Amino acid sequence: MRVNVNSIRQMKSRGDKVVMLTCYDYSTARILDEAGIPLLLVGDSLGMVMLGYESTIPVTMEEMLHHAKAVTRGVKSAMVVADMPFMTYQVSKKEALRNAARFVQEAGAQAVKLEGGANIAETIKKITENGIPVMGHLGLTPQYINQLGGYRIQGKTSDSAVKLYRDALAVENAGAFALVLETVPAPLAGFISRKLTIPTIGIGAGAGCDGQVQVINDMLGSFTDFVPKHARRYTNLAEITSQAVKTYQQEVCSGLFPGEENSFCMDQAVFEEFVRQAE
Ligand code: KIV
Repeated sequence: MRVNVNSIRQMKSRGDKVVMLTCYDYSTARILDEAGIPLLLVGDSLGMVMLGYESTIPVTMEEMLHHAKAVTRGVKSAMVVADMPFMTYQVSKKEALRNAARFVQEAGAQAVKLEGGANIAETIKKITENGIPVMGHLGLTPQYINQLGGYRIQGKTSDSAVKLYRDALAVENAGAFALVLETVPAPLAGFISRKLTIPTIGIGAGAGCDGQVQVINDMLGSFTDFVPKHARRYTNLAEITSQAVKTYQQEVCSGLFPGEENSFCMDQAVFEEFVRQAE
């Protein structure tokens, strides 16, 4: 059965951790889905790890839809959440609803994610009231990077921690079914997780969150520009890929590849007839 908002809520009430990974393409979606990952996030981090942008700001609706469609084609059980890109939900509630609907209707996602707190609470309400589940995102919200002044920890002072907590309550009250907390001190994230009824999903927010999310390219070691402090590498795909392509190159150059098993044969008589006609 397909994971849905109710199953995610039940995970928190049962005390089961909510596991989420970012995903941007069909092949990876199949692997993650078959491995039993319940939540796949088509994050706008694809701007950096897939498209080579410097931040998530340039990512467009069309780029997000393109990747979201590929992911949903590969998924049978997981819930697919799509990030709404910068400035696609801030201008008006009407525009936000229209754009959120595109992810569900055109791309087949089950939910959308929006960055922000009290400032977007009315927008979250509008989208959820119209049948589209919303995941919130607070703390280090990369779409606000120019306002935040850099990728740094959020909620370190008591004033900013209070604001973050109030924003979390606003997101929950607006109807969000889960909340990402990014780069927030662990004690603050733990406090918020205990106070909210919806699950918190942390990234750089400590073990007290109800779940965790990682950017898949960070945990697989395929994104090599930098390794964020919150990431743990479970393998080194960059190294493995590099070795594999070098071996391929050597085998092509030495004639070891392709082998008989990679080639297609032809009836000898047909080939001889072909040669006779061709010459
Ligand atoms: O875009 C993204 O990948 C995200 C996660 C880091 C939560 O928002």
